[in-house]
Amino acid sequence: MSDSPSAPVAATLQSLPVDMELVLKVIPMPGDVNANGDIFGGWVMAQCDLAGSVIPARYTQGRMATVAVNEFVFKQPVRIGDILSFYSKLVRVGRTSVTVMVEVFAERFQAQGAYVKVTQATFTYVAIDDNGRPRPIEAAVA
Ligand SMILES: CC(C)(COP(=O)(O)OP(=O)(O)OC[C@H]1O[C@@H](n2cnc3c(N)ncnc32)[C@H](O)[C@@H]1OP(=O)(O)O)[C@@H](O)C(=O)NCCC(=O)NCCS
Repeated sequence: MSDSPSAPVAATLQSLPVDMELVLKVIPMPGDVNANGDIFGGWVMAQCDLAGSVIPARYTQGRMATVAVNEFVFKQPVRIGDILSFYSKLVRVGRTSVTVMVEVFAERFQAQGAYVKVTQATFTYVAIDDNGRPRPIEAAVA
């Protein structure tokens, strides 16, 4: 017998990425929920923006701004009490901008040690000067 159309689909467990850096861990709280009782997508986006800025900061060595969310996919809902791990890796270094990928994995509240990929995104950050205009990236990062 098949499940009803509205039955929740069991999410596939994933391995954590080995080619990305763990840049942030955070646990959403009851104040972060939407009307469905899941975590508000805007909260997830804000955390991804913070996590995504970690690697670019090493290149920009100063003030920077998020110029684009090139991709954002909510693959699975995030729930109160999930332990979220944000992984990031460099995609591109341009003249004034740095693009990174961010992937978010949830350890569910009652299933610690098993990971579900909940979000993937790509962000571009621009090094800016004191006037808020694009500034060339000079520092080479090992
Ligand atoms: C960031 C900002 C200074 C860039 O100014 P701009 O005049 O658009 O700059 P440019 O067109 O010269 O582009 C600068 C870099 O951003 C990149 N860029 C611009 N728009 C982009 C987009 N939609 N996607 C990806 N990269 C983009 C350019 O390719 C360029 O990178 P490169 O020099 O490495 O090749 C300006 O857009 C700005 O102030 N935006 C608001 C930033 C902000 O408030 N962010 C927080 C939002 S909540």
